[in-house]
Amino acid sequence: MIAAGAGTAAGLAGGFWWWNRPRLEHAGLPPVRDPAFPNPLPLPGSDGMFGVLDVAGTVAIAAKSARHAMLPGKPARMLAYEVQHEGRKLLNPVLRVRAGATLRANLWNTLDEATIIHWHGLKVDANNDGHPHYAIAGGRTYDYQYTVLNRAATYWYHPHAHGTTGKQLYLGLASLFIVEDDEELALQRALDLRVGVSDIPLMIQDKDFDVSGTPAYAPDAEQRASGYFGREVLINLAPRPYFDAATRIYRFRILNGSNARIYRLAFRSGERLLDYRVIATDGGLLDRPYRTKEVFLSSGERVEVLLDLRAAREGDTVWLTSRAFDPMHQETGPGAHPGHGAAPDPQPQAGEHGMAHHGAAPAPQSAAQSGSLPDGAAVDLLRINVAAKVRYDRPVPATLAEIVPLDAKQGASRKFLLQREQGQWRINGLTFRMMETPIVVRRGATEIWEIRNSERSMPHPMHIHGFQFQMLSRSGSPEQQRQLAVNAQGLASADLGWKDTVLVWPGETVRLALDFTHPFNGDQVYLFHCHNLEHSDEGMMINIKVLA
Ligand code: C2O
Ligand code: CU
Ligand code: CU
Repeated sequence: MIAAGAGTAAGLAGGFWWWNRPRLEHAGLPPVRDPAFPNPLPLPGSDGMFGVLDVAGTVAIAAKSARHAMLPGKPARMLAYEVQHEGRKLLNPVLRVRAGATLRANLWNTLDEATIIHWHGLKVDANNDGHPHYAIAGGRTYDYQYTVLNRAATYWYHPHAHGTTGKQLYLGLASLFIVEDDEELALQRALDLRVGVSDIPLMIQDKDFDVSGTPAYAPDAEQRASGYFGREVLINLAPRPYFDAATRIYRFRILNGSNARIYRLAFRSGERLLDYRVIATDGGLLDRPYRTKEVFLSSGERVEVLLDLRAAREGDTVWLTSRAFDPMHQETGPGAHPGHGAAPDPQPQAGEHGMAHHGAAPAPQSAAQSGSLPDGAAVDLLRINVAAKVRYDRPVPATLAEIVPLDAKQGASRKFLLQREQGQWRINGLTFRMMETPIVVRRGATEIWEIRNSERSMPHPMHIHGFQFQMLSRSGSPEQQRQLAVNAQGLASADLGWKDTVLVWPGETVRLALDFTHPFNGDQVYLFHCHNLEHSDEGMMINIKVLA
């Protein structure tokens, strides 16, 4: 049974294994709540947690300790961004802005330690980027002012003080930053998409809790090396959520806001995987929708998908799930990492303790690992109840946006090697030094970056601040990635369009095209780092200076 995590698992599990449940066949009946997925998915409304705030002008954001029941019936301390706006109180607001708007954000740090907000994916100057050098002490404020130069997409914001990013994010500080432009509004009209109704943000995070329901962040040395994995997977801070849907098309904006966990996202009906369409990645809409059955999503990445429920019947259940995959913890040699080995395909495991995952590490587990959710284990994320029949006859647009390929052929190329040496994850042998800038780029240059992950490694989601890139190729990819390729360059649908974070598997090489054009005055310093937050907190991060 689950010992340390009793507050988590025992409090929620119905003690009932749902895998073999017959599909509901009687149309017209209200959906049956699965006892193991009893919690309504928190949807962005006009206030409260994840309330949507349309920002035009100034927003005052306080980073503070708040009280919120992530585990039902267990209100507990967490950290949240709080905004008071026209009598409304929002926590971790979903900020929504028009492309081209100028935004002023005033951060007030009420924590007892340093913090700073980073706007993940936005093209802003170094003063507004939230580089750890700009972290402010408790009690202080920081003023941001920038024009939103990015195209429409699902960006996000989170803390970035050095060494505490993983902890602060895990304790709750993170939310979405949605940019809209004309292409985006055209899509919303074409498909009748409304945020919180038919356009659903899903921030996926895995967490552990103590008995009081407080998220427990205490990585030991091994967890700092591998990343910190929680036993409960939450969406929008709710564990085991359900969502009542109608027979229409939904857009899900999916953010992997986990510290370390990678998800292999699929929709399933029973054991049958459903087709869905990838329409956008980190930096916004793709040229057209791409059909797929699964995508990998690593920490920091976003993917937007359309799920077509028009053919579903009332009473049907569709699951958003993460399929089992090989987590490739090969840093200490293949198979040398107990509890982190390859998870097999989902297998019904009758009995157990009603945990929401299946196929998780069938090998004998040590006491410490029993009830854990190993990296790569299959886990259901969201139960979608088809609860209403509606008329919906809008076709999915054949094209979405124009993506002009970056021409980087003339550009310099740089090589990066990801490797563990002397007990630390490194980029070209380097770890983070606040004031050193090992990479110097000329403003306006176009470059090709070749990032190779060593064989004796683990997957690293590599992220760059300040610029979106285009992926050129993947090579040396493991089979589970290679089988998702949609072109001869080995790229999957989730690799297309504009990206700011890319997952690099052990033994794999990815090539990116970057354009360092920007409109800011003076030298700019940005970051290139692993978005496994234990890795970046431990120093798998380097500065990039873009010369004026
Ligand atoms: Cu989302 Cu430097 O990070
Ligand atoms: Cu970022
Ligand atoms: Cu890493």
